[in-house]
Amino acid sequence: MSLCDLTDHIIGAHHTYLRREFGRLVELCELARRDAPHAANLVAVAAILRRIGSDLVKHLDSEEQVLFPLIRSLDYATRQQGCYPGGVEHWLSEMCHDHDTVNAELAELRRVTHAFAVPAGSADSYTKLMQALAELDQNLAQHTAKEDALFARAIDAETILRRGAGAPGNAQPNTSSPIRENAR
Ligand SMILES: [Fe+2]
Ligand SMILES: [Fe+2]
Repeated sequence: MSLCDLTDHIIGAHHTYLRREFGRLVELCELARRDAPHAANLVAVAAILRRIGSDLVKHLDSEEQVLFPLIRSLDYATRQQGCYPGGVEHWLSEMCHDHDTVNAELAELRRVTHAFAVPAGSADSYTKLMQALAELDQNLAQHTAKEDALFARAIDAETILRRGAGAPGNAQPNTSSPIRENAR
């Protein structure tokens, strides 16, 4: 899959999901808290959702409006179909920091919900919330993993362009990259 195709796929499969579902998830949490006002873990869930949500739209907007267009122009430039202004690496380090933050929040979400377990006798609202949180966890984990791979490829493509190597096999990865090595 080309870098362009991968950015389109991430927006279609993950950004659209988040923009559509996150508000519904916050409402589900409020419903569950109303039905089980003494469930301490729901207070923690609500706080985690607030923290994730506060930066989420800004992160998605930055990717869709700045970083992904930059990666697309990088992809075109590697095929001699346009010019590339540079600057991907600067944006990637900021986005990767956001990913680390959201991954830590997801780990906390799994901990406070006991991996989204539904105790016997739970209200329907609690069951629906746990199902929606499990889906969020899975979708976000896939989302950040795909972007880590996208970012690693973008760094390599930028390195190739910068060196004017032309052939990907001649290029060495940028070892000073902020991107995780295991995403390559
Ligand atoms: Fe994203
Ligand atoms: Fe992202």
